[in-house]
Parts: sequence; structure tokens; C-alpha cells
Amino acid sequence: MSKINSFEEYKTEYKRSVEHPELFWAEQAETFVWQKKWDEVLNWNFKEPKIEWFVNGKLNITENCLDRHLPERANQIAYYWEPNSPDEKAVEHTYQQLQEQVCKFANVLKNNGAKKGDRVCIYMPMVPELAIALLACARIGAVHSVVFGGFSASALSGRIQDCDCKIVVTTDGAYRGAKDIPIKDIVDEALEICPAVEKVIVVQRTDTFIKMLEGRDVLWVDEMEKVNADCPAEPMDAEDLLFILYTSGSTGKPKGVVHTCGGYMVYTHYTFQNVFQYRDKEVYWCTADIGWITGHSYIVYAPLLAGASSVMYEGIPTYPDAGRFWKIIDKYKVNIFYTAPTAIRALESAGEHFIKPYKLNSLRVLGSVGEPINEEAWNWYNQNIGKGKCPIVDTWWQTETGGMLISPLAGITKTKPSFATLPLPGVQPVIVDEKGNEIEGNGVEGNLCIKFPWPSMLRTTYGDHERCYQNYFATYPNLYFTGDGCKRDEDGYYRITGRVDDVMNVSGHRIGTAEVESAINMHIDIVESAVVAYPHDIKGQGIYAYVICTNHNKNHESLRMEILAEVTKMIGAIAKPDKIQVVNGLPKTRSGKIMRRILRKIAEGETSNLGDISTLIDPSVVEEIKNGAL
Ligand code: WTA
Repeated sequence: MSKINSFEEYKTEYKRSVEHPELFWAEQAETFVWQKKWDEVLNWNFKEPKIEWFVNGKLNITENCLDRHLPERANQIAYYWEPNSPDEKAVEHTYQQLQEQVCKFANVLKNNGAKKGDRVCIYMPMVPELAIALLACARIGAVHSVVFGGFSASALSGRIQDCDCKIVVTTDGAYRGAKDIPIKDIVDEALEICPAVEKVIVVQRTDTFIKMLEGRDVLWVDEMEKVNADCPAEPMDAEDLLFILYTSGSTGKPKGVVHTCGGYMVYTHYTFQNVFQYRDKEVYWCTADIGWITGHSYIVYAPLLAGASSVMYEGIPTYPDAGRFWKIIDKYKVNIFYTAPTAIRALESAGEHFIKPYKLNSLRVLGSVGEPINEEAWNWYNQNIGKGKCPIVDTWWQTETGGMLISPLAGITKTKPSFATLPLPGVQPVIVDEKGNEIEGNGVEGNLCIKFPWPSMLRTTYGDHERCYQNYFATYPNLYFTGDGCKRDEDGYYRITGRVDDVMNVSGHRIGTAEVESAINMHIDIVESAVVAYPHDIKGQGIYAYVICTNHNKNHESLRMEILAEVTKMIGAIAKPDKIQVVNGLPKTRSGKIMRRILRKIAEGETSNLGDISTLIDPSVVEEIKNGAL
């Protein structure tokens, strides 16, 4: 895997990657183990879209993550697992042990009926078995669909049904901070409406009592005893599915973003190596949850492809106190630390005395991902955690992009607070105006698109290719539309300003306004609702809901509590509105469209300057909403 060592080299590599993308990516791909080489590097059009990388190449990503590091890295730690409670024993997995566990669990999956191409749903907390389960699926060519452990039974069942999973891997319970979450009960509830699920494999984490359904539910430990560690890696076509990951868009139903084997492998490894400038033997820690794309790409696949040693942490940043991250960094002498702005802001607000007891002198590189990092948080991170000595890589990317697209290279690209800086090699961003015309030059602003494929881009949305086209390729012909707005400054540096569609970003979690609205509308007294995001000090964005209630005698506080319960039930606690305002009407145009722009402004606290409201059917509702704003 080639590594860029200077800014000059970045510029030549970038140029080469744009002028000769096929040559460029073929060179990167050649550094991996292929069972059969590709015939053609790239075959694409954005009209269908059709994107194929390393056509007819055969490989198995787990051979590249595990087998090829043996025996050299047999005794090197792949994962240092740090439990939720600092008093519990930490667990280490060497590359040898991880390879064995993955092969064993791959055999367990086979014994329980999984075959190449079958979908396996994984719903569990951050325990080592989670990474093992993903890799075991990849080993046999089963497609994993990980559902973040914070989603509700209803959200889980929707995702299981959408891609027709026949196996679910889960735990009895989960420890998150002071909480003990009944994971298996949630699965049981979800499966009441998922009759196609044949097997549930349960890891015992909390040893709480769970119901086991005879014939369907089996224990991980029991199953692992029945198998050996010999499991050949399934030959996969470069374009066979590796995984599905559901993400929110502007409609009510989350989309199953599909990633395939070859391009994803090449691109995630390339970006890991170059963005973090990873050096052999360094300890790397990404604090994301494997339930999101950051965890898939930069906790599981890329670090293992690079033969890195990673920390994997089960708990939350503030448990037992707001010094936990810093304690873990000192404990494992973490060199590269990758986290989210929302965590940085929360830990900043907790106060500097939580940092004082720790040295943090092992740190070399800091990373940020998930949402725009505001200048203040950037500076705080730089001074208090990096001690002014660690480059910060603000990495911009998406579930759909599979890997980082715009980011500094640590220590190489000159950084600027709140700028994701420059595109990585192979990435060709363009800024367009509302009409889709490219805005050239520097010092401009508009919607961010990408005009050429990169190896780890999404291939489709599961079961609905047309939806993939409509969502990402129809808005601007021949461009991939990101849904983000951005600025390009005088130096050609990119600054992502946030979503321009109806997707919110709450504590780095992607949530669609339409999803929250449909959950709120389940409440019997609610006839209609409109949800918008507003700036929130810690979460980045908070959720503001305007609701129309038919029951005029309803007590506001009980209505609020019931709505929160409804959202928690339909989506999960992560999507609970921060503010709920009861209104008599919503600002609608003559064609019946809600003017969210106005609602957004009011939620932001803006009361004058609402723009043109003359096209509304009933402009007077605006006055009423303004007066009742929270
Ligand atoms: C936002 C997370 C600014 C953006 C990897 C994007 C960012 C969405 C950054 C994708 C960043 C992510 N700066 N904004 N460094 N990283 N975003 O799919 O709006 O969970 O479209 O992927 O998060 O969120 P997703």
C-alpha cells in the first residue's frame, strides 16, 4: 500500500489519480492477496448507476485482514478490548486468536444454515464478538447487516425484514454506562413480526435471565464448542456484497446502503494508511460504534487490513466520569485517536479537571468524524488533548462513500480549524449551484457532488436500485450528490457546512426528519407534525418538533412524555425530540408543502427576517408559531 510522505507527493499522487485513475487504483490493489486477478479495473456510468471495480477479481477480505498477517503478526494484539466498567478485566485478542475465533464462528454460522449470499443481522453492543461476527460473515460470504444497538425493536424488525435476514447474532444484555440494556428482549420483540428468521445466536455478556426459544435460539458458547478453527475463505467476486448498512435519508424508510468486497477493501485500507499516516506497531483507537459506518470501516476492516493494533471500547465517554477516554489513552498508550465532535464538546463542557490527571503524551494524531467540527471544539481538542503537537484530521465522508473522501493527511496537509481541507487521491469533488451548474474557482459555496467513482462508493440500495438512482444520481446528471453543502475557500480548502436535505445529524447520528415525523404521528392525538433540526451546543443539532394535537384538553407535559415514548418505541432514544411545540397549524404553500425553512428559522430563535411568506395559504399561523416558540 503506497504511503504519501510529503505535501509535494500528495499533489503528484492526486494528479496521477485523476489523470490515470485505473492505473492508480490497480497499483494499490496489487498490494493485496487476490485469489484471481481482475480483468478490468473500472466499469462505470452514473446513469443507472453501474459501478464495478476490479471486474472479475476474486478475493476474500478476511484473508487480507487476518491470514496474510500470519505468522508475522501472530502474537501482535489486534484488539485491546476495554470493558464498560474500569473494574472489569480487559480482554486482548492477538491476530492469531482473532483468526481462530473468526474461523470458528464462521463454522458456527454454517452449522446454523448460513450460506454465501445469505443476510445475517448483527445487533449487539461493543464486545469483541461483534467484530468477530462481521468477519465470520465475510469469511463465508454471508452479507452482514449490523443494526446499531440503540435502535428499537420496531426499527430492528424493519431492517431485518427489508433484507430478509435468516440469522440474528445478538447478546443477552448490554452495559452502557450505568445502564443495563435488555438486548435479547428487544430482539425477541422484533422477531415477533419476522418469521423468516431461523436462528438467533446469543453471546452472554451480562448473564441476565433471557428467554430462549427452543429450536431458534442457541448460545454462542455452546455452538463454538462444536466446531474447529478450520474454515477456508470463500472466494468472493470483487463485486459480491460484503455488507448492507441502513442509513436515514429524506424519506421515512431507511435505505440499505450496499458495499461490495474489492473496492471497499482497497479504499478503506488506502485512506487509513494515508490519512492517519499509520506506522507499524502504533496503537489506534476509534471511539465509534461498529453499528455505524465509521466502526465498519475504521474499527473493523481498515485497521485489520493495515495489521494495526486497535483499542475497542464498550462504554460511553462519561462513565464512570468524563475522564474515561483520557484514562484509556494513557492505559494503552494510544497514538492515534479518532472521535466525534459531539464527544469532544461533551468532554469540554465537563471541565479540564478531568484531563489533568492524565499525561496523554503517547498521542501523535487526532481525528474527527461525523459532523462539522466547530472552531471552538477544534481549538479545545488541539490544545487540551493534542497539547498543540498533534495534527487533527477532520475527515469528511458518509455511509454511502464507505471511506473518507475529504481529509487532511496527518502532519502533511496544513490544517485549518473546521475545514476538512482537500480531497484524497481518487476523489473529484465539484460544487454545484441549485440548477446543477458547476461553480468553479475558489471562494465559492454550493452543494457538494463527486464526479468520478472511487472504489468504496455505494453500489446500490438493497432491493431497490431505482431508489439509489433517485437519491444520489438523479438530482444532478452524471454526478453523485452528497446531500451536503460546502464552501471552498481561497486556498481551495473544503469546509462542509452540513446537510442541505431533510437529514439531521444529532450527536453524529444520522436521523431523517420524515422518520421522526412518522413516529410522532403514531400518537393518537397528533394529526400532523413537522420536525426540523436546530443548533445544539453539545449534540451539534437538536430535534425540534411542531405538532398539531386534536385533543385540546390534553395536558402538555403528558403529551410530551407520550410523544417521546412513541419515538423511542418506533426508532430509539437517539431520535427523541429535544423540543416539542404544540401548534394549531403548519405553514403550508398552496400545493400543501410545509415550508420547513420558516420552521427552521423559528427553531433557531430567529423571529424577524423569515423571508417571503406571502405564498402561504395562511400566513397568520407563522405569527402564532413564533409567539409560542420554545
Ligand atoms: C456529516 C459518517 C462535516 C455530513 C462517516 C455527512 C461531516 C454525514 C463530517 C454522513 C465532517 C461526516 N465534517 N460533516 N468531517 N463527517 N459529516 O453517513 O453531513 O453517518 O453527509 O457517515 O455526516 O453521516 P454518516
